[in-house]
Amino acid sequence: MKNWQTTTASPEETRCLGGLLGEFAEAGIVVLLSGPLGAGKTCFAQGVGSGLGVPESCPVTSPSYTLLNVHPGRMPLHHFDLYRLSMVDDLADLGYDELAEGEGLTLVEWADRMTGELYASVSVLIESLDGHSRRLTFEASDARGQELLDQLAGSWPGCGQSRA
Ligand SMILES: Nc1ncnc2c1ncn2[C@@H]1O[C@H](COP(=O)(O)OP(=O)(O)OP(=O)(O)O)[C@@H](O)[C@H]1O
Ligand SMILES: [Mg+2]
Repeated sequence: MKNWQTTTASPEETRCLGGLLGEFAEAGIVVLLSGPLGAGKTCFAQGVGSGLGVPESCPVTSPSYTLLNVHPGRMPLHHFDLYRLSMVDDLADLGYDELAEGEGLTLVEWADRMTGELYASVSVLIESLDGHSRRLTFEASDARGQELLDQLAGSWPGCGQSRA
């Protein structure tokens, strides 16, 4: 499956979906999150953190000002937010390539702010629909991403929700 789309009806559901991704992800995977302000990218990232077992003492919050937060977990979570990134060099300064090629899970909010394309196994676009509904469109760019999407789609809906 190259693309997969679903909707969530609440922040909890978006976190739940992120949690599944965090549970299934293999070390070294890069996931790009895009969508407008307030779409739910950080909310999804919080779910990924819980799926990776990031301790509550190290909560996943928006790295808008720091550009990068690293959280411990079953593997490290490298959480980037490029909203305020203007120069490609800044990304190099943050050690992006080393982290993205390393043994953690790299999650990038506002990757579309980069002038050049970042390589990722999975890209996720989050869009607001009516009220609290969000549409999440996942796209896989390689075999690992595809495997991850297959696992996500196969176990969703999860977290106890029953969705007609
Ligand atoms: N289904 C939903 N999924 C995710 N967030 C939702 C949903 N419904 C409502 N929300 C609300 O939308 C907001 C999403 O905020 P969040 O910080 O995750 O967005 P963001 O995309 O990271 O924004 P930014 O571009 O500022 O970083 C939160 O206030 C959350 O409670
Ligand atoms: Mg955010």
